[in-house]
Amino acid sequence: MFAVGSEMLLRKATKKDLQRILSLSDLQSPKKPDLSTGLNVVALADGEVVGFAQLDKGVIYSLIVSKKRRRKKIATKLVFWLLLHSGEREIEAHVLEDNTASQKFFESLGFKKTGKKGKSLVYKLVL
Ligand SMILES: CC(C)(COP(=O)(O)OP(=O)(O)OC[C@H]1O[C@@H](n2cnc3c(N)ncnc32)[C@H](O)[C@@H]1OP(=O)(O)O)[C@@H](O)C(=O)NCCC(=O)NCCS
Repeated sequence: MFAVGSEMLLRKATKKDLQRILSLSDLQSPKKPDLSTGLNVVALADGEVVGFAQLDKGVIYSLIVSKKRRRKKIATKLVFWLLLHSGEREIEAHVLEDNTASQKFFESLGFKKTGKKGKSLVYKLVL
């Protein structure tokens, strides 16, 4: 667990965070993340869960930041945390073709588009 700024911290996600992770989504019935697999991280601000990310076998399966907290580098910190704690040298993300915000986000971190998988574009970062 480490602090970012004065009142934000990142730590491993636990089952107790599940409800708060689900409430980050705009979807009516968001898919429950399986916290028993991979590396799972939450960002907390003032004790509130404001972001979540999951990395499993080198692939980012989930990344979400509370709508009112976006563009404050929270997702950037979540991805850095995953890189640091996983020790992975290569990370992939699959982004839907119409999700331009997320594509811009991964590009901002230096991820490169390497191909397509179904309806998603594959982005890769090689360290
Ligand atoms: C994509 C998402 C996780 C980004 O989270 P965030 O905390 O706002 O991202 P950051 O603040 O770390 O963004 C870093 C950089 O990425 C780029 N970026 C992020 N969101 C962007 C947007 N909506 N439009 C354009 N560029 C964007 C910018 O370059 C930004 O830097 P800047 O704000 O200094 O210009 C967030 O928009 C989100 O939760 N979206 C809904 C869920 C989702 O689509 N997840 C990804 C599934 S693959």
